[in-house]
Amino acid sequence: MTGRFIWQGKRVLITGVNGFIGGNLAKYLMQKGADVIGIVRNISEDSLLYFEGIASRIKLIHGDIVDKELLMRVFAEEQVQCVFHLAAQVEVGVARAYPYLTWETNIKGAYCLLEAVRENRENIEAVVIASSDKAYGEYGKDKMPYREDYPLIPVYPYDVSKACADMIARSYSSPLYGLPIVVTRFCNIYGPGQLNFSAVIPDSTRCALGYGEFVPRSDGSQLRDYIYVGDVVELYAVIAENLAGNPGLAGEVFNAGTNKPRSARGVVEKVFEITGQQEKYEKIEKLWADKKTIGEIDCQYMTFDKVDEFFGWKPKTSFDTGMRETIDWYRKYLSAKRELT
Ligand SMILES: NC(=O)c1ccc[n+]([C@@H]2O[C@H](COP(=O)([O-])OP(=O)(O)OC[C@H]3O[C@@H](n4cnc5c(N)ncnc54)[C@H](O)[C@@H]3O)[C@@H](O)[C@H]2O)c1
Repeated sequence: MTGRFIWQGKRVLITGVNGFIGGNLAKYLMQKGADVIGIVRNISEDSLLYFEGIASRIKLIHGDIVDKELLMRVFAEEQVQCVFHLAAQVEVGVARAYPYLTWETNIKGAYCLLEAVRENRENIEAVVIASSDKAYGEYGKDKMPYREDYPLIPVYPYDVSKACADMIARSYSSPLYGLPIVVTRFCNIYGPGQLNFSAVIPDSTRCALGYGEFVPRSDGSQLRDYIYVGDVVELYAVIAENLAGNPGLAGEVFNAGTNKPRSARGVVEKVFEITGQQEKYEKIEKLWADKKTIGEIDCQYMTFDKVDEFFGWKPKTSFDTGMRETIDWYRKYLSAKRELT
């Protein structure tokens, strides 16, 4: 790991800053002294950024990620030095129903952002593009864990959109343009601030805490790897720190997971166990049967071997600890929301 990089006063642009990972990353980098600038499409105060009072301490710019003129202005006026591109349409169900919207945001958004980087390259030290494990597509259990050198073979709309952006980034980091870009393909991320309640952890936690009934959408057998958002934001920072001033890293792709696949069923059971709602879970257990989902990959997990080899980085938070912190956060957030309504 390099020790030279200093976040204090660094001009950092985060796209998708009002989202789950963006909010956590803004909080982390702000605490390190960075000047965070965030692009937000919707002025939704229903987010970690507002709930934890971060929004008022960073600079927010309203606009759409496909608005290249806006991006050009942001780069020029804000003297951006480091970029984390997180803005995306992330809901798999929405992607299936509205592929066009997903292509627009996830693919066009990526090349608009990367063009703005290219045209403002003098100041820019590091660009991290959030791809996803979904970009790999379906490889089957016997080929897990995913390795960074696997060809991308996705089929489903969200997965394809992430793979396209991932490859476009490769073009900009190639010797043709030589931009300091790294792509991350992380597994499922969970933790405080995830408010996409179509995802299994937010949905089941909300229900276990007494805000609705949990209805399984599948047979619960799908295997996913879950990494804690606190670990992820630290890793994002480590990648950017190492990329700055090190052109040899441009074009690298990094997976990060815990190498521990968990079934949706096991995750939901854990949520109900931590919240002391085992009896409630016994009823849910009967509802999993015979619900097969179409349009989602069956088994995905990955190691952290390459980030360990390059940066000496490993995830620190066990699933049990991460889930307890996550559930505590939802407890506070949901009760504050109830008081407001
Ligand atoms: N959450 C995960 O498990 C996970 C795992 C791997 C990769 N990722 C990637 O990390 C990134 C962030 O994911 P997240 O979980 O924080 O999602 P999120 O939905 O919480 O955040 C995405 C943000 O992007 C914004 N956005 C969407 N369309 C936009 C547009 N057209 N213009 C400007 N902003 C727009 C949304 O308003 C939102 O604030 C995504 O690129 C996602 O693909 C997420």
